[in-house]
Amino acid sequence: MTAQATREPAIRVRGIEKSFQDLPVLRGVDLDVEAGSIVALLGSNGAGKTTLVRILSTLSRPDAGTATVNGIDMGANPGRVRESISLTGQFAAVDEVLTGRENLVLIARLRHLRNPGAIADDLLARFSLTDAGGRRAATYSGGMRRRLDIAMSLIGDPPVIFLDEPTTGLDPQARIEVWQTVKKLADGGTTVLLTTQYLDEAEQLADRIAILHRGTIISSGTLDELKRLLPAVEVTYVEKQPSLEDVFLALVGEPSETDTADSSDRSATTQKGSR
Ligand SMILES: Nc1ncnc2c1ncn2[C@@H]1O[C@H](COP(=O)(O)OP(=O)(O)OP(=O)(O)O)[C@@H](O)[C@H]1O
Ligand SMILES: [Mg+2]
Repeated sequence: MTAQATREPAIRVRGIEKSFQDLPVLRGVDLDVEAGSIVALLGSNGAGKTTLVRILSTLSRPDAGTATVNGIDMGANPGRVRESISLTGQFAAVDEVLTGRENLVLIARLRHLRNPGAIADDLLARFSLTDAGGRRAATYSGGMRRRLDIAMSLIGDPPVIFLDEPTTGLDPQARIEVWQTVKKLADGGTTVLLTTQYLDEAEQLADRIAILHRGTIISSGTLDELKRLLPAVEVTYVEKQPSLEDVFLALVGEPSETDTADSSDRSATTQKGSR
């Protein structure tokens, strides 16, 4: 056994089952998440990702199975599990009437922390929201709202955080901002379990990827391990689209011997354009 394998995982899930009426959604989920790592739970719509995250954050009870979070048994001690986690749900939990700063202060107060204002200011700075901190959250873009939402869930420094589809509906720039935020969290030692239906998100962010399909984790591992499950890709030839330079040269013709000063100007323009 390696040293890593002997360390208690931050999240350990064994045999979790959950049905809604006669719809079996989770049919025995097993999963380990190492402390300080990012694991992406990948699955299509309706695969049961939110159901699993709700169970692990004690919002819903499983029909069978066990889980420990930070070494605490979820079934026996749900209150202590709640103290060591935070959940950023699939739909932003920001209060739109309040400013960004007021949202943060509110959560810090609810958690009975000292200096809620200082905590809010620190988080606004960490999430590049200082300038927007005094504005009502209703005026925030989707990316800003998501960052505020994640910032709110970090108040009290929980060692384990669950992010349910953190970037759904965001534009590419905002997604990258959220990814950077999540990476920084893990660099600081926080354990992150996130759900996503985006393959590139899992590739970009996760140390390990677990694929949830038809109620079980059908595969899990690092990106390289998962890639090795498939045969090496074949080399294929793709038709090359013409570049603007190709179009330009086809239209004006290649410079010929008979062209004089004109032609040197034109080739200079072409070279500049192709840089
Ligand atoms: N409270 C509930 N009552 C009945 N059915 C439910 C309930 N919650 C979830 N389901 C069903 O369980 C299945 C899994 O739902 P879940 O929300 O966990 O999927 P998901 O993987 O998070 O999907 P998405 O990517 O769309 O968020 C779906 O078929 C859903 O309709
Ligand atoms: Mg979901």
